[in-house]
Amino acid sequence: MLKIRKCLFPAAGYGTRFLPATKAIPKEMLAVLTKPLLQYGVEEALSAGINTMAIVTGRGKRAIEDHFDISYELEHQIKGTPKEHYLTEIRSVITKCTFSYTRQVEMKGLGHAILCGETLIGNEPFAVILADDLCDNAPDQRNKCPRGDDESVLLQMTKLYEKYQCSIVAVEEIPKQDSNKYGVIAGSIEEKNIIRVSDMVEKPNPEDAPSNLAIIGRYILTPDIFDILRETKPGKGGEIQITDALLTQAKQGKVIAYKFQGKRFDCGSVDGFVEATNYFYKKNNL
Ligand code: UTP
Repeated sequence: MLKIRKCLFPAAGYGTRFLPATKAIPKEMLAVLTKPLLQYGVEEALSAGINTMAIVTGRGKRAIEDHFDISYELEHQIKGTPKEHYLTEIRSVITKCTFSYTRQVEMKGLGHAILCGETLIGNEPFAVILADDLCDNAPDQRNKCPRGDDESVLLQMTKLYEKYQCSIVAVEEIPKQDSNKYGVIAGSIEEKNIIRVSDMVEKPNPEDAPSNLAIIGRYILTPDIFDILRETKPGKGGEIQITDALLTQAKQGKVIAYKFQGKRFDCGSVDGFVEATNYFYKKNNL
């Protein structure tokens, strides 16, 4: 049985909703408190036992590579000072993971970004994290979660993969009027919190949405998705959509949707970013 060993991070988008902040800084490097969104994502992958990180970048994203590398000058400056502990977490991430990068030269959509990652992933099942969807499950000090509920969303999904061995999308219930911001699925209940997907639509108008279950930025994909993506024509917004490629797999009964346990913040929007900041500030300062 193939284990999920690699996680792909599409991080080539322009992040226009955060301009001018994202003019020279990648959206994925915006920090919730002191940690960039992408580092939260990498830590989530690590928590799922994955230590090979494959990042799809674009122009102006060099800060990402620098972040996951040693800064000798900085290390030298703060070594032995009371500030050294600020680097502990990122050092640990760098030690535990390997990082590889490729560039999406033209922004042709999330599906296209994932296809660009083929060269880093190869012929094996893999995870995808969209770092601007920030997920949290770790118990806070005051209100300890019951055992099991503190597993990261990706860990929950890799465990499910062991059972189902097919593509998996994480879904969340949304108000119908928000349908046009997400891929929306329909299907039949397989077991508690698990739906066998039969249909999926990218950003439908609320009246056309097949359900209130929206796909968020966590996926497990089987490698046949690359061949399907190669054949996928531009869809909604003229972009190559991962939802359209997944629909091909879904029609073969090979996609399940998982109503995950945990909190998710849409940090690709200013409102979600502020909400996440407040949440983590409260959680860390109890
Ligand atoms: P979004 O549509 O949320 O990101 O894509 P964006 O385009 O950067 O944001 P706005 O709408 O302009 O503010 C979701 C994820 O897919 C990646 C983005 O980097 C983000 O992580 N993406 C999207 C790519 O890597 N390439 C693309 O062509 C499109």
